[in-house]
Amino acid sequence: MAISRKGILLAGGKGTRLHPLTMDKSKHLLPIGSFPMLAYSLCTLLQAEVREILIVTNPEDLNTYQDLFGDGFAWGCSLHYKAQAKPEGIAQALLLAKDFLQDSPCVLALGDNLFSGPSFKDLLQKANAQNQGATLFTTLVSDPEHYGIAEISASGKVVSLEEKPCRPRSCHAVTGLYFYDEHASSLAESLQPSERGELEITDLNRLYLEQSQLTCIPLPDEFLWMDLGTLPALKQAEKNASLWEQQLSHVAPWVALQKQLGPQIQLSLSFLSKETFLQFPEEGVVVQGAVEKRVKDFSSGRAVAHKALHHLGAVPHPLLSSPQGSPLWPKGYVGSISHTKNAVGAVVGKQKAEGSENYLWGVGLDLEVAVPLPEKLHDKILTSMEKEWIQSWTGSFPKALLAKAIFCLKEAVYKCMLPCGNEGLGFQDVSFSIVESGPTPGCFTAKIHPEENLRKRYPTSFQFQSQVALHGETLLALVSLNQNN
Ligand code: G1P
Repeated sequence: MAISRKGILLAGGKGTRLHPLTMDKSKHLLPIGSFPMLAYSLCTLLQAEVREILIVTNPEDLNTYQDLFGDGFAWGCSLHYKAQAKPEGIAQALLLAKDFLQDSPCVLALGDNLFSGPSFKDLLQKANAQNQGATLFTTLVSDPEHYGIAEISASGKVVSLEEKPCRPRSCHAVTGLYFYDEHASSLAESLQPSERGELEITDLNRLYLEQSQLTCIPLPDEFLWMDLGTLPALKQAEKNASLWEQQLSHVAPWVALQKQLGPQIQLSLSFLSKETFLQFPEEGVVVQGAVEKRVKDFSSGRAVAHKALHHLGAVPHPLLSSPQGSPLWPKGYVGSISHTKNAVGAVVGKQKAEGSENYLWGVGLDLEVAVPLPEKLHDKILTSMEKEWIQSWTGSFPKALLAKAIFCLKEAVYKCMLPCGNEGLGFQDVSFSIVESGPTPGCFTAKIHPEENLRKRYPTSFQFQSQVALHGETLLALVSLNQNN
């Protein structure tokens, strides 16, 4: 059984081997393709199903990382930050993370290590399933003096571990991805600084080895692993940029699409679970009330809208303090709360600039009041690709709700996203057609045409592209809107 681990992403250090590139910039911010290096190692942790992650970095870079990655919402995880006052070794990250970890098992990933291989997810699952000791990944290298090196017996057991040995006993390098049980922080407390004044991760791993608690997983030959500490490695990684980007777009499609869409009108849809709302005490009460009574009033919708507004950076109180009926949107925001027979959701848009017609959109769906879409409607609502996608779905998000979620996504888009103030176009006011299915599951292009009687008011048809990503109970989607006359 896989256990739930917290993640530590290390983005500290001075990157001296990359000077002058890193004189005024953290190494992990250097671009590989269209993302900073750290984005890819964050994806490694996401692939390992880690959803609570602490980024440890230099005090002077902390704000930049916070601006770039935020609270993790877009990545489908929760991100926390901690400054490492001085670069005093990788193992120090486990000391800095002690309060964050609270005795949970963890995965520590070095922000400059990139991994790619077809079996990566399986290998991560294997490491995740070990609930005792430490698990490392090794790979053969031609320059073993530059890495932590594991001597491995014929039966695959680790015999010794050395950090950057002058006379290496093997060519099995230990890569920068370490799975630990709940004892890692307290074991790290017993470490002494090495000759170079650092708390060495290899020393921590050796403590596990001495207790016969160390497992080592060799990466398969076809696997690509890179440590981006040097200029040649960086250049090599850049050559493979499309590979890393592709991997990222599978793990964090919302982020990838957001990047691609650039300044176009964007709609970010987040279908949120009741648990998410309950983290906000005020709305928690509202949602619970709505769920218990299954009341079809605006309270649950307001809670959803509140979360969506929060996501867009608004102060949401004007919304909640509004009387019964239509909510009051904060200045610069428009939105709509939508009710279908069995679900309640909200879409809010934030004006990109004063007076502009461009909005950034956030959407929520109260899944607790959503019930599965009747199967007989699937043919009307879903494309064949979406049906296949649902068939093959094995994630934790309830399969029965997938069709409903896709339906709500589409409905939300054409009911609510049109820039028409508080009103929103009604379900029956527009016709909606899927033009084509996109290259990845949940991605589609569709057209929205206002009905005849509304053509005067909305003489425009709209085309949008959407991509959906599921992270546990949360469904995220991003939609770009093109206006065609
Ligand atoms: C670190 C570790 C080393 C490991 C390597 C992997 O070295 O100390 O054991 O093999 O990462 O990238 P660094 O590259 O920080 O010098």
